Amino acid sequence: MTDAFTLLDDASLEGRNTFRVAARAALLADVNHADGFAELFRYPVFEAGNPLVLGGGSNLLFAGDWPGPVLSIRAHEIRIVEDDGDSALVRAEAGAEWNDLVGWTLARNLPGLENLALIPGTVGAAPIQNIGAYGVEVRELVETVEAWDRDVGAIKRVPAVDCDFGYRDSRFKREHDRWIVFAVEFRFPKQRELRLDYAGIRDELQRMGVEQPTHRQVAEAVSRVRTAKLPNPSLLGNAGSFFKNPVVSRAQANDLLAKHPDLPNYATDDDITRKLSAAWLIERGGWRGKRIGDAGVSEQHALVLVNHGRAHGAQILQLARDIARDVRHRFDVELEPEPRIIGADWNP
Ligand code: EPU
Repeated sequence: MTDAFTLLDDASLEGRNTFRVAARAALLADVNHADGFAELFRYPVFEAGNPLVLGGGSNLLFAGDWPGPVLSIRAHEIRIVEDDGDSALVRAEAGAEWNDLVGWTLARNLPGLENLALIPGTVGAAPIQNIGAYGVEVRELVETVEAWDRDVGAIKRVPAVDCDFGYRDSRFKREHDRWIVFAVEFRFPKQRELRLDYAGIRDELQRMGVEQPTHRQVAEAVSRVRTAKLPNPSLLGNAGSFFKNPVVSRAQANDLLAKHPDLPNYATDDDITRKLSAAWLIERGGWRGKRIGDAGVSEQHALVLVNHGRAHGAQILQLARDIARDVRHRFDVELEPEPRIIGADWNP
């Protein structure tokens, strides 16, 4: 073993997932340096063992243990790679906390991540599910993703155009057995317009008494809105939105809107579909604030499932399936989970 990684047998993962459910890994590797991959994948247990890659554990649900090895990137350096006056290129390693990167860039007058303030998780997870909030998605800033490619056994630089980013989706999510994200390079134009159109942000700035907001003040407003609307995973176990907002045909959206004119709905990348508010659909079934044992739905937000203490992942999964079935029954709309489910199939 070298200092490029450390290994632990029979490791508890309870402190490594934001739902804080119990789970174990037969072998856990913490990777401190990119050189660690080549060394680690010489071990047959990793090469043949289909390792699970854990980031901040904020976008997965352990409904059971992971049968193979688990790997986590600890490297967390953030630095400016180049600055041409008009824009700066920042490289952040996967283990850095996402919100630390947001603060780091804004403190250096590099705008762009302010709407993504306070999203739990690590930098490495950000491109995998193309994190987004308040009208901004991370794909807008990503220039290159550096990832270990298990197919060739080397680090590859994947330019943003080849990342296949979509709504909470990317190539790295779809091909999760192939890629291990090690670092992300972001391009920050020095001048960037503020995005304030998402409901709640302007109101919050007004409450703060701000008329001409700076990017840092927008981050502050976003943080306040998030704190008021979403439960803090360090106080109450959760993984943010448990479901994606469902995308349905325009015809189905129109039918639903004729019956439910207040159903929030949004444009997608094309003309033939609409995105519906999953929170609204769930709330209609009376799920907000509901609790079955220690598995529950947040009182603050119907999209967020929570662990009130000692819920098992399987109980949270069962609650999620019950919610999805109820929404299907009421509205004929299929909900899909946003986090990755480990140790069970979704199968609602
Ligand atoms: N709503 C309800 N009940 C609720 C909460 C919301 O009916 O309990 C309705 C309201 O009418 C509201 C609408 O749903 O206007 C939308 O709610 P919100 O603004 O909270 O946004 P969202 O669509 O529910 C998405 C993301 C969040 C992100 C927010 C803000 C997804 C799956 N979720 O939620 O992302 O923070 O927008 O941009 O796209 C996450 O991905 O983990 C996450 C928290």
